[in-house]
Amino acid sequence: HAPVVVAIDGPSGSGKSTVSRAVAARLGLSFLDTGAMYRAMTWWMLANEVDVTDAEAVAIACGKPVIVSGTDTDGPTITVDGVDVSGPIRGPEVTAGVSAVAAVPAVRSRLVELQRGCAAVAERGIVTEGRDMGTVVFPAATVKVFLTASEAARAGRRAAELRAKGVDEATIAAMAADLGRRDAADSSRTTAPLAQAADAVLVDTSELTLEQVIDTVVELVAQRA
Ligand code: C5P
Repeated sequence: HAPVVVAIDGPSGSGKSTVSRAVAARLGLSFLDTGAMYRAMTWWMLANEVDVTDAEAVAIACGKPVIVSGTDTDGPTITVDGVDVSGPIRGPEVTAGVSAVAAVPAVRSRLVELQRGCAAVAERGIVTEGRDMGTVVFPAATVKVFLTASEAARAGRRAAELRAKGVDEATIAAMAADLGRRDAADSSRTTAPLAQAADAVLVDTSELTLEQVIDTVVELVAQRA
């Protein structure tokens, strides 16, 4: 009996991270935030003055950083060349550059390999979240979920999240504008665009509480695992 893989995809602000982590905690599974890996790669590019809009330069450089992603459900850390970048990867510079970096095929093939490696060593199974978990990285996942929410709901949640962290209103407004731009870029790129897998269950979270979404996903896993 192969370990459980729960593949959760969706746009930013759909509640993916919170839901995925909570489902993993409840089921005693590992948790992998693949967006953090693309963010860590972007952080390294910025730190090393690689122009993130230059796809060729990014492709050449992307083999260099050593990215190690934790898979615990409580505050997993991610390191680049041994440096904990869990905080900096959430900042506006990385957020603005990440879609361009994530569109580069060489970046994706490198990180997909790391993602499959994380799943392979997760003894009890893993909940993995991103944009292409069900379509590309884990085509044989036990359960595939595509989380969506209306644009208004997503923008509102992201703003509340940032506000709770004490982020100022100007930055919140800038990040809201960035959210739409990033989703458009992620959905329209050539390699592994954000898309619902044919066999994924669509869950619209606009009108659901966090607990309801978690229960829905846990129930899907219980039915299939
Ligand atoms: O999920 P999060 O917003 O942290 O993801 C940051 C960015 O990483 C996304 O906007 C997308 O460009 C990229 N990403 C991706 N494939 C994934 C996860 C994230 O392209 N599986």
